[in-house]
Order: sequence, then C-alpha cells, then structure tokens
Amino acid sequence: MKIGILNGGGDCAGLNAVTRAVVRKSEEFGYEVIGIRQGWAGLLNVDTLPLGWNNVADIIKTGGTILHTTRTNPFSRKDGPETVLANAQKLRLDAVIAVGGEDTLSVAAKLAQTGLRVVGVPKTIDNDIVDTDVTFGFDSAVNVTVDAIDRIQTTGESHDRIMIVEVMGRHAGWIAAYAGVASGANLILVPEEPFDLDEVSSFLTKRHKSGATASVIVVGEGCSLKGAPPGDMTKVDEFGHARLGGIGDLLAREIEKRTGIETRAVVLGHVVRGGAPSAYDRILATRLGVAAVQAVNDGEFGVMVCLRNNAITRVPLANILGKMKTVDKETISLVKDFCI
Ligand code: F6P
Repeated sequence: MKIGILNGGGDCAGLNAVTRAVVRKSEEFGYEVIGIRQGWAGLLNVDTLPLGWNNVADIIKTGGTILHTTRTNPFSRKDGPETVLANAQKLRLDAVIAVGGEDTLSVAAKLAQTGLRVVGVPKTIDNDIVDTDVTFGFDSAVNVTVDAIDRIQTTGESHDRIMIVEVMGRHAGWIAAYAGVASGANLILVPEEPFDLDEVSSFLTKRHKSGATASVIVVGEGCSLKGAPPGDMTKVDEFGHARLGGIGDLLAREIEKRTGIETRAVVLGHVVRGGAPSAYDRILATRLGVAAVQAVNDGEFGVMVCLRNNAITRVPLANILGKMKTVDKETISLVKDFCI
C-alpha cells in the first residue's frame, strides 16, 4: 500500500505532528508514505518527496509544514480534477490523506466522488470546520494570541491608551472570543455580530469616565459594521475568499475621533499561525494522523477523521461541503458577560 499525504490552505501548528503520526503508523502496517508538496498543486504538477522515519524525527514540535502548502483548487482549472486522478494513478497511490480546512477538504470530498481514495484530516487556526469539536492549530493560536494581548495590555495601561488587537479567523470569531475571554479583554468583537461604531464609542467613553484609564478591544478580522456593504472583493484566492484585514485600523481611527482617547491598533495576523504547536495540538494532531491511517487500513475512504465528544471518529467528507462552524450562542453570551 502506498499513501500520499498533503497539506492545503493556510498553515497551522500541528501539521508536522500529523505527518509524523501518519509515517509512524504506516510503518506499523508496512505501508509506504510519500509527501505531496504544496497541497493539491503537488498532484497537479507531480511534486513529491519521500517520507520515512528519518524525515519525521523530532517534527512533532515544529511549526509550519515540511510538505509546504498552497491554496490551489484543482476545480478552478478545466482539466484539474482529471489531472489529479491521473497523477495519483501515475504515482501508484492507493490512498491520499488530505490535511486541510474547509476548502481543501471540500476538494477532497468532490474528488472522492470521482474515485479518489481519500481520507480528510481537519486543521485550521480558525476552528470553523463543522462536525469536529475543535481543529488542531486553534489551541496554539489562542495561546499565542493571549500572550500577545497580555503584553499589549500592560503597555496600553502605561500609556492610558485604548489598544485594539485584530486577530485572524476569517468569518468565524473563535480566536477573538476565546483569546478575548482568556485575556480579560474589555470588549470583544466577533464577525458573527456586526457592531455599531456609536455603541462601541459610548461603551468606551462610559468605561473611561467611570475610572478606567486603558482598554483592550479584541476584534476578529472578519468583523463588519452594522449595515455596511460587503468588503473589498478585488483580492480573492482560488476558492473566492477575500483577503481580510483593516478593521482594527478603522476602529482605532473612529474611536479616537469619537472619544478623544488615544487609540492604537495592533494586527497580530500571521504571528499566531506560526511557531511550535501547544501540547494539546500535538496530541490531537497525532491522534488524527493515526486515525487517518487506520481509515486507510480499513478501506474506508471519502471520510474525515474528527473529534466528537473527545473521541476520534469518522464522518462522510460530504458533510462539510459549503458549511462553516461559527461561534455558538453560549460562547457569544460568555463574551458579552465579560465585556466590561
Ligand atoms: O488559515 C486561515 C487563515 O489563517 C485565516 O484566518 C486568514 O484570513 C487567512 O488564513 C490568511 O491567509 P493567507 O496566509 O493566505 O493570507
């Protein structure tokens, strides 16, 4: 049996831990593993690397991905899907393990319908994939974000400023919500709830009039103003997603203008995607890598291995097509309770 493994979409901490687990578990079954470089692009262009015990030694603790990644979508090219299938055959692959977010896994789901023997593994710092309790990469990203906010808070306090921290997460506010609550931010804005500039400003004015000398606001990059038209769609990737960002600066300008309090914005951006995985993510990624090889060994394809009630299980890949897991009501209410 020969397995190819690829990583697609934005990187996150824990990708290398999956690769390591896949290689190690495969050796137990006597399977050969090759790495497919640059996501689906590696199956369009036949770009691979051999993987063995030596390549994966010690990578459980490293950030990024030794396989490299892109946002290539084979379905955005006329002959893309058939080229992927032909190249998988040419490489004599019995199975492909695709590690990615909703975009990469929806490609996997569609290719499974055309005959590719594929198993999906969910990953993303955004934690926005349905049918899994959590994605690896998220915990590491939240930890880095909390550390950054703690630091931003002390400098904000020294200078009596309002500090705005813009964080990734696309249209799901998981990172903003979790990191905001965990760091004791004074206001947390998530894309799920468009906000009003006047309300935000009067909240801050009241807060500072009643004695606060500094405030920290965490804002998800996908946040929007109530009633505002959709943002700039001129820079989109192969899956049609706009490049987000800029809400932090806009907020800082408007808040300073309306409250008269010095306001600064910090964009954490890719900082929280890089670096070593947390212990939690190392374990989750390892469990999922092992489960993916087990699915291959059981001959079960077109599935995503995932975490449900802390147990690893499998669901049809088709389940996730076109869906996004946004911040749930309980978390939104927790966020609101702690915005003071
Ligand atoms: O991987 C998801 C994500 O981190 C989003 O939170 C963010 O909007 C996007 O990737 C940024 O991607 P890129 O690195 O391609 O700019």
